[in-house]
Amino acid sequence: MQEIDGEGSLEIRLLKRRDIEFGMELKGLAGWNQTRSDWERLLRLQPRGCFLAKLNGEKVGTVTTLSYGEVGWVGMLLVHPAKRRKGVGTALLRRGIKHLRSRGVEVIKLDATPEGRKMYKRLGFVDEYMVCRYRSELGKVREAVKKDDLTRREIKIRPISEKELGEIVFFDEKTLGVSRGNVLRELVRENGGYCLCTRDGQNLLGYIMARAGSGAWQVGPLVAQDFESAGGLLREVVKRVPQEEEFVVVDVPSPNLGANSLVKNESFKVERRFHRMSLGSDGYIEDLGKIFAISGPEKG
Ligand SMILES: CC(C)(COP(=O)(O)OP(=O)(O)OC[C@H]1O[C@@H](n2cnc3c(N)ncnc32)[C@H](O)[C@@H]1OP(=O)(O)O)[C@@H](O)C(=O)NCCC(=O)NCCS
Repeated sequence: MQEIDGEGSLEIRLLKRRDIEFGMELKGLAGWNQTRSDWERLLRLQPRGCFLAKLNGEKVGTVTTLSYGEVGWVGMLLVHPAKRRKGVGTALLRRGIKHLRSRGVEVIKLDATPEGRKMYKRLGFVDEYMVCRYRSELGKVREAVKKDDLTRREIKIRPISEKELGEIVFFDEKTLGVSRGNVLRELVRENGGYCLCTRDGQNLLGYIMARAGSGAWQVGPLVAQDFESAGGLLREVVKRVPQEEEFVVVDVPSPNLGANSLVKNESFKVERRFHRMSLGSDGYIEDLGKIFAISGPEKG
């Protein structure tokens, strides 16, 4: 428990399953796309790394963390609009950082909104690059994909099998520099039919995962050796999105120019931008030329 000047007492405790409803309310107020399943997954993966803030006994904010070995991730940093600018966000962020450090994490990363960026800077985070959130209507993407299919070479794509999962995790690790096997395994378990890969004989060429969001179907991660494979995977996953969905979103790192032109070609338009930021000595290198889409701002 800590006292905040003129505001009362702030308690930060572990976030529990019973707090998810409150988390959903906060993310709804912020207009974010996560679902209850996203919160549940974060809690399953890092049960001691997700926190809730209470100001004078009232729930006011949340933060989640994930650790990928030496690299950690901060997400779902949300404070109720009526309780902002009182130090709650900073206290939650500090708690998340402390937890990740206690797990041996050296580099902490996040995708910052413009509101959060100033606070992260104050705590020492630095900008790396931009991540663009692209959005389109499902009908429009399907039209664009149909047209594209007429001119493209057919690529064999199929759902990721249980047997291939280890290979996918290794392929992803070679690209990212850290293993996020914990998240990838969960995503495949939950959304098997929307987790696809393509290969050339023995060689894996790329994979894609997609899942339902609260306002739009979320595509990503998409990691591929080359533009052709990435395009084939994107087009195939879009064809599989349930007909009743209205929108599709995909978060693309700006430095991957091919990825940006790929999604634009399939009718996506930039909706918003995040700043990829990091804290700590950045000793590892990710191969951004192969990262066509991240899995989401709350988990990289
Ligand atoms: C970003 C967010 C979490 C910040 O939460 P917050 O509780 O307002 O954060 P803090 O109060 O610690 O800091 C915000 C500002 O208030 C100031 N502040 C803190 N305590 C204060 C006080 N007692 N009196 C006046 N100002 C105060 C801080 O200095 C900071 O100022 P700055 O933006 O000029 O640096 C909140 O705005 C939010 O939920 N936004 C929507 C979701 C979002 O974008 N999350 C970030 C995702 S990356």
